Amino acid sequence: MRTIVLFAMSLWPALGASAADADVERRIGELVARMTLQEKLGQMSQSTSLRTPLSDAIKAEIRAGRWGSFLNAGDARDRAEAQRIATEESRLKIPLIFGRDVIHGYQTVFPIPLGQAATWDPDLVRQAAREAAREAAADRITWTFAPMIDIARDPRWGRIAESLGEDPYLASQLGAAMIRGFQGDSLAAPDSLAACAKHYAGYGAAEGGRDYNSAWLPEILLRDVYLRPFQAASQAGVATFMTAFNTLNAVPATADSFLLRNILRGEWKYEGMVVSDYEAVTNLIAHGYALDAREAARKAIRAGVEMEMVSTSFYDHAAELLRAGQITMQDIDGSVRDILRLKFRLGLFDPRPVPPPPDPQRTLAVAEKTAEESAVLLRNEGRLLPLSKSIRKIAVIGPLADSPVDQMGTWSMDGRADFVRTPLAALREMLGAGRVIYAPGLINSRDRSRAGFDRAVSAARQADAAVLFLGEEAILSGEARSRAFLNLPGAQEALVDAVAAAGKPIAAVILAGRPLTFHDAAAKIPAILYCFHPGTMGGPAIARLLFGDASPSGKLPVTFPRTVGQVPIYYAHLNTGRPPLAGDLGVPMGNPANPQGYRSKYIDVDYTPEYPFGFGLSYTSFRYSPPELSAKTLAAGGRLTITAQVANTGPRASDEIVQLYTSGPLGGSVARPVRELKGFRRVHLEPGAAVQVKFTITTEDLAYYNPKMQLAAEPGPYRA
Ligand code: NOJ
Repeated sequence: MRTIVLFAMSLWPALGASAADADVERRIGELVARMTLQEKLGQMSQSTSLRTPLSDAIKAEIRAGRWGSFLNAGDARDRAEAQRIATEESRLKIPLIFGRDVIHGYQTVFPIPLGQAATWDPDLVRQAAREAAREAAADRITWTFAPMIDIARDPRWGRIAESLGEDPYLASQLGAAMIRGFQGDSLAAPDSLAACAKHYAGYGAAEGGRDYNSAWLPEILLRDVYLRPFQAASQAGVATFMTAFNTLNAVPATADSFLLRNILRGEWKYEGMVVSDYEAVTNLIAHGYALDAREAARKAIRAGVEMEMVSTSFYDHAAELLRAGQITMQDIDGSVRDILRLKFRLGLFDPRPVPPPPDPQRTLAVAEKTAEESAVLLRNEGRLLPLSKSIRKIAVIGPLADSPVDQMGTWSMDGRADFVRTPLAALREMLGAGRVIYAPGLINSRDRSRAGFDRAVSAARQADAAVLFLGEEAILSGEARSRAFLNLPGAQEALVDAVAAAGKPIAAVILAGRPLTFHDAAAKIPAILYCFHPGTMGGPAIARLLFGDASPSGKLPVTFPRTVGQVPIYYAHLNTGRPPLAGDLGVPMGNPANPQGYRSKYIDVDYTPEYPFGFGLSYTSFRYSPPELSAKTLAAGGRLTITAQVANTGPRASDEIVQLYTSGPLGGSVARPVRELKGFRRVHLEPGAAVQVKFTITTEDLAYYNPKMQLAAEPGPYRA
């Protein structure tokens, strides 16, 4: 596996690099020369208005070249007919591009992106995106609005579910893997989708974790953390970028020429297409950044937005703006060229065959493996898990044991609930229905009624062990689903108390869209398996994990706080001048003049997280040899290898995720994070087996931004 993406070569072909590219550029030039202004503005407009059945009005608009793209609208038949009209009956026969939020699967749903991040398995994440692309392409979708690569360090933000977690390196690797999966080897392949790096930029830093809220990011943090996955996406050849809803340092991202022109086009030399988010252009008015739609259009176009999603300010006002000299024809033509180039690259100007749907067995197998690898074992006191298959009876309790829609998670609008295999169904299949006593206890995760508790307790009493399926319904995470409390909603904690009182061994499986806080409940549950909404095949994956057919191997892609008051809490923080002392935990007792009291911590809760980034237990144990470095120093342009032996010293085969962190340099031009992920490798080890894991580090891998915003590695010692 490659450990470095930041400096990887761009996969986007240089313009004019081949005769085919030159031919495309020629055809684009000819088209642009023939297009009327209204046809150009039509290409720059994306609509949701494709409805089943297609109205005469929309057919007429397509014929007139009013729209360049449709999103999240209509079905495959509508798309086929709309495309036929565009390519046969419109004046210039320019094809449409159909976008859709194929975020973590289409009809077959894979774990939510945060769960996929917990796999730390770029190739599997690539495969999941590939399967999703195949399913969606079979329904004539050609563009997905994924991956979302916003760094997310605030679990209150509902869209953390859609993120790849808190770390720029992990998110860069996995985001690039998703792009490779969606786009395949060639965009023109019938089963490829154009991907979209979103939301550019800073959206994950919404103040207070409240969706759409302002983000304030000093440039050094923006560049060193929040932009890294976007630069990696650009280098991976992502076909499109989407601007974010939020203001970033007081400028709405959808009108931010610093982001779009200086960084994206200027520094990164990005040559793809830029779409706004949904009505984000006219949202500039609500931001107080534009007086009206005309000014919103001017500011967004001048900043470099090329296609307007849903609102129509470009179409309505660009002509006046041109006449007034407030935008130029070069602005318009540049955008139209980028849009047409995307359509050529997708092969839409040629008859693009519609691929057959993929082999469902393979898609489901990838979904099950992804769900399995995404589960994180947080606690396993007394090795309660795995359960023995010779168990007489098991009680299955909790609102999320048998809830297909909730299991799919946010952004599952095309997900087939009838494909979903729930944990209850899978356990019944594995053990035989007669050995599974099911009592949901609560109707859903927010249910406050205790009416179902008696049955749940009685189920636990009749069984040898109980497994509680707790967490959050799908609707509690995702866009506009910010929470100010991170606890288990409804009466779930009371359900834990009631079932625990039955005195049987209990394990919990928590299905959620974000890190939750469940400190008190965890004290009563010896074993906890955390599953970010695991998708269609979550049930069989969980059943296999609970009964030891597989060992948990997922690792947290995000820090779990003890309480919401610790947020934001993330592992790669800077040190303070007064770091807490080792053992400096909990409420300080005694004399407040004690210097230990003047440390960076809380007086009412441990300063440490509940579960740290990168954490996850297994059914086996691993021994690491001390890492060996090929040299004690790394000169500019040199390479350093770091090698360690990892041995499976326990009783079961399992995957382990070997993680490489650096810490330093000390004494540079800026303070650096206490630790930074620089590499990881998933290895499979049979009991007793060992493997040598080797990482290579260059000075480029150690580069960071200095106060002058220059990216460079600085000399200095690193902490061992
Ligand atoms: C708004 C969301 O922010 C974005 O992520 C999504 O792709 C668009 N709506 C289209 O549905």
